[in-house]
Amino acid sequence: MKAKDQIPKKEFGDFQTPFELSNIMMDILKEINIKPNIIIEPTCGLGAILMDAYNNFNPQKAIGIEINSKYCNILFEKLKTNNNISIINNDIFISLKNIENEVNQNDTCLFIGNPPWVTNSELGSLNSQNIPVKTNLKNLRGIDAVTGKSNFDIAEYIILKLIEAFRPHKAIYAFLCKTSVARNILKYCWNQEIYYKESYIFPIDAKKYFNASVDACYFIVDASEKNIKKDCKVYESVEKRIYKYDIGIYNNVMVCNTNNFNTHNYLGKSDYNWRNGIKHDCSKVMEFDIIGSKIINGYGENVEIEEELVYPLLKSSDIANGKIEIRKKILITQRYIGEKTDYIKNKYPKTWQYLNDHIYDFEKRKSSIYKNKPVFSIFSIGNYSFYPFKIAISSLYKKINFKMLYPIMEKPVMVDDTCNFLSCNTESEADILYSLLTSHDVELFLNSLIFWDSKRPITTQILNSIDLGKVADNNGLYKNYTTLTKYNNLINNESSAQMALF
Ligand SMILES: C[S@@+](CC[C@H](N)C(=O)[O-])C[C@H]1O[C@@H](n2cnc3c(N)ncnc32)[C@H](O)[C@@H]1O
Repeated sequence: MKAKDQIPKKEFGDFQTPFELSNIMMDILKEINIKPNIIIEPTCGLGAILMDAYNNFNPQKAIGIEINSKYCNILFEKLKTNNNISIINNDIFISLKNIENEVNQNDTCLFIGNPPWVTNSELGSLNSQNIPVKTNLKNLRGIDAVTGKSNFDIAEYIILKLIEAFRPHKAIYAFLCKTSVARNILKYCWNQEIYYKESYIFPIDAKKYFNASVDACYFIVDASEKNIKKDCKVYESVEKRIYKYDIGIYNNVMVCNTNNFNTHNYLGKSDYNWRNGIKHDCSKVMEFDIIGSKIINGYGENVEIEEELVYPLLKSSDIANGKIEIRKKILITQRYIGEKTDYIKNKYPKTWQYLNDHIYDFEKRKSSIYKNKPVFSIFSIGNYSFYPFKIAISSLYKKINFKMLYPIMEKPVMVDDTCNFLSCNTESEADILYSLLTSHDVELFLNSLIFWDSKRPITTQILNSIDLGKVADNNGLYKNYTTLTKYNNLINNESSAQMALF
């Protein structure tokens, strides 16, 4: 193993907090009036936060843990004359037990810091040793459910470990972390009935303080008293402490703005199934630019194949921006998941030849969804893909913009896997759904559920939770809605294999 102080900074999420920000962190803690007698920084680095906290709260003792011995040596030197602050040069995952022994039942302990904002899979690709031991991971109740098991932030793991270890104590947790980490921790606390007095999210400008392009915040859970709480106050920013709204939970669904949600609660089950667009992981071969009367693939080749399996295609950028314009086409090799693709050989020989000329592109696809499937398989395909009318929305863009898609030259328009859509049989059915989805009611409801800082903010899960019947009822359209939509069962009951990926 490399010496700990020679390991590249990235592995250790090593971005030291500037004093300007650590001063603001202290101001906020004073505003919420905490009175800790012990301060612990689990990853203290060069000690900016630890010392600031010590100077502001004057505790009986302060402890910093830091893995990098260079930083520790600098701190040992700085703190020579201060007997109340001790520094442990070790891995927090190893030192946690020692810290537990330092805290008594009656202490009020402030855990503060800026733990590494790096995920275990990023660490995996760096061959890092800085990952919690796997067996520890299993011991933490419910953590799998919260972290999505395979990939989680090291900061998330450190904070959850502390919250679990000091659950019965009077404790305040105050950490800089990604906003998504803060939400995962809240979800964990709410699921595990971990009680607290209040919790707060103050967004920070990560670009300004750390030159990082990520949504981050100063996240505080004040568990110095234990109340049954399932919400968190969100403020404008660390600098502008103006209260904006509460995050909460309703029937196990995380709500990003409880005020809007309570007045526009359309949570239920959509009568229409929202799906992800087509996935194929082979865009150079399967997608074509339309140039005049020609179609050109991603290798710049003029593709001359039968028309039958080629459909108009829209991508997220087409759906999210302005007027719909078809710039691309897509080759659709199956009508349902798992369909054999060798039918193409006799029916569409040019298409078959084209596919075989590029077979390597299909064979090198890594995703497990193509394992043990016909070689030219695609995913997220079914009868519903071929219904003439669709309403689509980009899952990536940070705005709510539904688009109606009409067939082109009698062919249904397909969307790619960065979009979500529902399908309809008739234009009048699509019209009514479109008017409901673009109503102010649905906009407010969606805005109360969508966390805009997520990578894919608009998920099929959220869209499938819109009770369109209830929206129709509220807008005096219930009769029209049920009359037009009663034939829709066919689309909705289609094979469970068509599960959504996002
Ligand atoms: C984002 S920096 C923050 C440092 C300091 N808390 C501050 O805010 O300025 C994260 C620190 O965590 C340390 N670190 C990373 N992994 C650690 C681990 N497993 N145990 C203890 N410290 C660790 C790094 O060396 C680095 O100094």
